[in-house]
Amino acid sequence: MHKLLERQLAGFFNADPPKTEAFERFVQALDTVFQQRESYQQQIERSLEAASHELLEQNERHRRDIAAIQQLEIELRQAEKLRAVGQLAAGVAHEINTPMQFVGDNVHFLKSACGDLLQLGIHLMVLCDQIDAGEDPHAIAAGARKLAEEMDINYLLEELPKAFTRTSEGVARVVEIVTAMKDLGRSDQRAMVLADLNRGLNSTLIVARSEYKHVADLELDLGDVPLIPCHAGELNQVFLNLIVNAAHAVGARHAESGGRGKIRISTRADRDHVVIDVADDGCGIPQEKQARIFEPFFTTKPVGQGTGQGLAIARAIVVDKHKGTMTFESKAGEGTTFRVRIPLRCDDGTHAVAITESGADAAPQYPSFGP
Ligand SMILES: Nc1ncnc2c1ncn2[C@@H]1O[C@H](COP(=O)(O)OP(=O)(O)OP(=O)(O)O)[C@@H](O)[C@H]1O
Ligand SMILES: [Mg+2]
Repeated sequence: MHKLLERQLAGFFNADPPKTEAFERFVQALDTVFQQRESYQQQIERSLEAASHELLEQNERHRRDIAAIQQLEIELRQAEKLRAVGQLAAGVAHEINTPMQFVGDNVHFLKSACGDLLQLGIHLMVLCDQIDAGEDPHAIAAGARKLAEEMDINYLLEELPKAFTRTSEGVARVVEIVTAMKDLGRSDQRAMVLADLNRGLNSTLIVARSEYKHVADLELDLGDVPLIPCHAGELNQVFLNLIVNAAHAVGARHAESGGRGKIRISTRADRDHVVIDVADDGCGIPQEKQARIFEPFFTTKPVGQGTGQGLAIARAIVVDKHKGTMTFESKAGEGTTFRVRIPLRCDDGTHAVAITESGADAAPQYPSFGP
């Protein structure tokens, strides 16, 4: 008999149940019901257990799928960034080549000047020997003067320090370009880190210089903005696309006249956001195309110049990843201004911090090295 029924009967009849046949049958029927109920309960429990196990597995599968999709997204963005940086590679190589040629010329001059100075040193030893031997001091002095004149010592005195300065400037420029490339190419960690957007913009401008320098004058107005929690490398990717787009637009507008346009980049803090404006006086975006520019693969550029992914990716980085906004104003034939707003605070509560002296100083300078 079912244990629970046995206990109930014992409790109810005080160990003295009725001994009638009808009662026996009733108890048997009751027992069957108890046994069935128990078996149903066990079945339900087993099904529930199996269902919750299945749910847990499904959850785990979804978690893994989401992680895989997120990883894929990161890899796609990284691939797109490397594609953009790769497209600039020829220009960057030229940017590095110019100061390197400059360094080469100066090292060549320094080498020949050092040769001259060594010769002068050897002659001085000879002159010292002549003085020791008691030769005519006037004749020796005249000889020394003649030698110095032959070597154009005044020219060397003037040019040697300059050559050293120019060489170290050239090397610094190459280091700056390589550092900017590394800054731009590196992939972001998953977590946001505090970063200086002005510095990111400066690095991006160094790498993109070959794209805009022939077509536009650059106006930079980088305000005093705090360090903000962000994926710095991805924001650099946004800046890179906006700057290259601006350069293309300016190039397209002024192509026929051969004139130069203007690209103006500014940053400022606005209450709880940092605002970055990239403005150009390029060809502008015709009204009928304005609604489409953020669509993936929408491009008006010839093959090889654009794939139409830049703004779609930029908007995903700004809006989805940083909870910021990306807007633009444009007039066909007059120019375009893109505005990016990034919040000073991120989801995990990380706040912006005031920019440090060294952070501000770290912004690279722009020595000019010809075309
Ligand atoms: N500053 C701008 N001035 C004029 N048109 C622009 C500007 N920025 C974007 N556009 C227009 O929006 C389109 C889409 O831009 P997006 O950056 O997404 O792609 P792309 O520049 O064509 O290619 P990619 O960035 O993938 O190399 C451009 O093809 C161009 O027509
Ligand atoms: Mg683009």
